[in-house]
Amino acid sequence: MKKRILSGIQPSGQLHIGNYFGMIERMVSLQKESELFCFIANYHSLTSMSESKKLEKNTFEAFVDLLALGIETDDSTFWIQSHVPEVTELSWILSNFTSVGLMQRSTSYKDKIANGLKPNMGLFSYPVLMASDILLYQSNIVPVGKDQKQHLEMTKDIALKFNNFYGDTFVIPEAEIDKNKNLIIGIDGQKMSKSYGNTIPIFGEESQIKDQIMNITTDSAGLNDLKDTDTPLFQIFSMFLNDDELKILDDRYNTPGLKYMEVKNELFEKIIDYFSEQRKKRNELMNNPDDVVDLMKLGEEKARDIASKTLLKVKIAAGLI
Ligand code: TRP
Repeated sequence: MKKRILSGIQPSGQLHIGNYFGMIERMVSLQKESELFCFIANYHSLTSMSESKKLEKNTFEAFVDLLALGIETDDSTFWIQSHVPEVTELSWILSNFTSVGLMQRSTSYKDKIANGLKPNMGLFSYPVLMASDILLYQSNIVPVGKDQKQHLEMTKDIALKFNNFYGDTFVIPEAEIDKNKNLIIGIDGQKMSKSYGNTIPIFGEESQIKDQIMNITTDSAGLNDLKDTDTPLFQIFSMFLNDDELKILDDRYNTPGLKYMEVKNELFEKIIDYFSEQRKKRNELMNNPDDVVDLMKLGEEKARDIASKTLLKVKIAAGLI
């Protein structure tokens, strides 16, 4: 049987190349060999965003972006989290199997509070909702970044507790932490992250993409010095290159005469070219919002079909029917 892989993506603004090479590219390629479940985690975004128009726009655009980047709606199941209300119902049930101590040890909660977010209950119980996402669809594998690893451990803990009480109800999921992928670094050399403003957006205006590329930090090596490849410009460029192309760029860095400006212009051309098909598809979808809504409904239907079955099983197990 195919393994069921689930992933949620928060609609937090423009997707960037770090999102793409960190996760999306892999999800798109996994669609053949496994059963992909993918959703836009707008309930999770609500924990840190209260501008309704912005949330609505970001959610719609995140859905369109992922369609344009290759998430399928026939083979895979792709939906908007809040369109399947079963997830919040299960979340309530699961919260009774979640220890407060476990939640208090959440590093992501502590980080968010340290960064100035208001400590509301949504933020605090965020991992329970995430557990609900994962367990509702009986997922086998959840590919996540290191920052989400603890959430997966909490999910397992909650599922095991429930299964111990009521008998086997949930599939116990496994986190899949992508080990061979190095951290994707941003234009300033830190981890590429929206909150650092150091990203290159996939579908930004060309001028915006160009500005970010021109702002990639370079060192003060002179024209005839050999150049360091352990630097953001080289690292970012390398993600778009096959082995042969990488070798050529590496050789140029090790030969006097390389101009960073030229490399930046080439990187710009490369990025525009790399995503050109996807950009076309995105424009088409943005011009046909009714088609997008139809695809959302299809995803909702497919997701609810499974969600309602799991929830029924849970409610019977817990004596709630
Ligand atoms: N918390 C995840 C993030 O911020 C998003 C998410 C929500 C998720 N529910 C999920 C990821 C379930 C994987 C599985 O990136």
